[in-house]
Amino acid sequence: MTQRNIWIMGNWKTNPVMTQDASNLAQQLAGAVSKQTVQHKQMMIAPGVIHASTVATHCSEQLWLMGQDCCAYTQTQGAYTGDISAAQLAELGAKAVLVGHSERRQYHQESSELLTQKIKHVTASGMLAVLCVGESLSEREAKTHFDVVAQQITSVLQSVTLTAAQIVIAYEPVWAIGTGRTASPEQAQEVHAAIRVLLAKFDTEIAEKTQILYGGSMNPKNASALLSMSDIDGGLIGGASLKADDFLTICQAA
Ligand code: 13P
Repeated sequence: MTQRNIWIMGNWKTNPVMTQDASNLAQQLAGAVSKQTVQHKQMMIAPGVIHASTVATHCSEQLWLMGQDCCAYTQTQGAYTGDISAAQLAELGAKAVLVGHSERRQYHQESSELLTQKIKHVTASGMLAVLCVGESLSEREAKTHFDVVAQQITSVLQSVTLTAAQIVIAYEPVWAIGTGRTASPEQAQEVHAAIRVLLAKFDTEIAEKTQILYGGSMNPKNASALLSMSDIDGGLIGGASLKADDFLTICQAA
């Protein structure tokens, strides 16, 4: 059986306002990494792009820089006002990019076709695509969550051929994001296991090696139980990634 490492990603979203605060947060994490407070884990942070070049100065092989999103229409450059291309993120030193976060799907109406384009650009730029999937509360209550997640993954994977070194799946039930209401370890494990079975339909190596992360109100108190589940290979952390101590405690919890 493949031993997958634990990956902990911080998604800072549109926080903080001040570059100095973003820099301080990154510096504290970099300090912990250099003192080897956190071992055998891959830590990654996705600052807002406005802070990314400053935050990048604190990043390293142990603390990767990530993008939160990228342009769907070009891999490199062109007339796409307000967009950041995958090549620009790679040039900053980013190693991975979130694609299809539920906040992008909700507020920017991102479709599977658009996400597939983004994933092609991210991987063509030599970075990992972190495909975010997850059901809404009404879909969970209607017990359609497996179908929703399967559809979100299938619609992308049937249009682009990827290796396990190019894709990460982040299962983030929308009802758990920023609500303080976390999926139980069993609820999360059940979906992660189903995702792995689905991936095996495309490629057994992808199914075995792909990191499947959980996101949605993960915090220092619940991280250990979630990360102990066999198909949960890490976390995608929002609110708790904005406090260095909380983020580091989560990293140490696995
Ligand atoms: P919270 O950890 O704040 O619930 O956010 C999760 C998330 O959306 C990470 O991408």
